[in-house]
Amino acid sequence: MKHAAPAVALRGVRKAFPLAGGERLEVLDVVDVVDVELAPGSWTALNGRSGSGKTTLLNLIAGISRPTAGTITIGGDDIVTMTQARRDAFRARHVGYVFQTFNLLSAFSALENVMLPMMFTDVRPRREHRRRAAAILSRLGLGARLTHPPHRLSRGEQQRVAIARALANDPPLILADEPCASLDAHTAREVLSEFWDVCRQDGKTVLVVSHEDAALAAVHRVLDMSEINRADGQPRAA
Ligand SMILES: Nc1ncnc2c1ncn2[C@@H]1O[C@H](COP(=O)(O)OP(=O)(O)OP(=O)(O)O)[C@@H](O)[C@H]1O
Ligand SMILES: [Mg+2]
Repeated sequence: MKHAAPAVALRGVRKAFPLAGGERLEVLDVVDVVDVELAPGSWTALNGRSGSGKTTLLNLIAGISRPTAGTITIGGDDIVTMTQARRDAFRARHVGYVFQTFNLLSAFSALENVMLPMMFTDVRPRREHRRRAAAILSRLGLGARLTHPPHRLSRGEQQRVAIARALANDPPLILADEPCASLDAHTAREVLSEFWDVCRQDGKTVLVVSHEDAALAAVHRVLDMSEINRADGQPRAA
């Protein structure tokens, strides 16, 4: 990661999805964002109505999907031109992503789900993986649920496993898509306070989609999709 480069820089980023079915080939323009930079250590909230492209934008920044046009750099590294394998390895080390849909692996326990990102990198020696995963889960109130697979956890517990997994490799960039949507107000406050403490201690850059005061109190800046996204979300001829 290059020193003093923006934590995230988006230039001319667009994402259009091909639409199947019709007689003519059509595409759906979902993201066409103004250029955006996130400074290292800054905390930003991403707001916008349902369907405005928030998750699509987070997936682009995480390198999970590739833009139709434009460049995306993370700490100065261009993730669009990387090979898929390089991008996956880069994400494992540099990006912690709390997915809106959690994306936990059903065959693995809570502990193993949190250990997995560590196994894909050499950030920590293998002998530390289990202890570190258990420590993060305990910090988020799941110390007594380590061996439970996702289907034996409540939704709010699954959400906390997803948060723990995002922290496992200690990545400099955290993307969190509605990280407390499944938590009651009290648990949301507790979990966020632990989550944000870790992010603050380590000087992480945070981009969070949330409507909740508990999540937004910490942010420096709010980006609203209605202001930064020019895509109209309507089909057009390809
Ligand atoms: N793979 C895809 N193919 C076609 N259209 C898609 C695809 N993924 C997302 N979309 C469309 O892109 C739009 C934006 O979706 P996205 O999930 O980014 O919205 P969002 O802002 O995160 O909404 P929410 O607040 O409900 O989570 C939606 O209209 C959706 O139907
Ligand atoms: Mg979404």
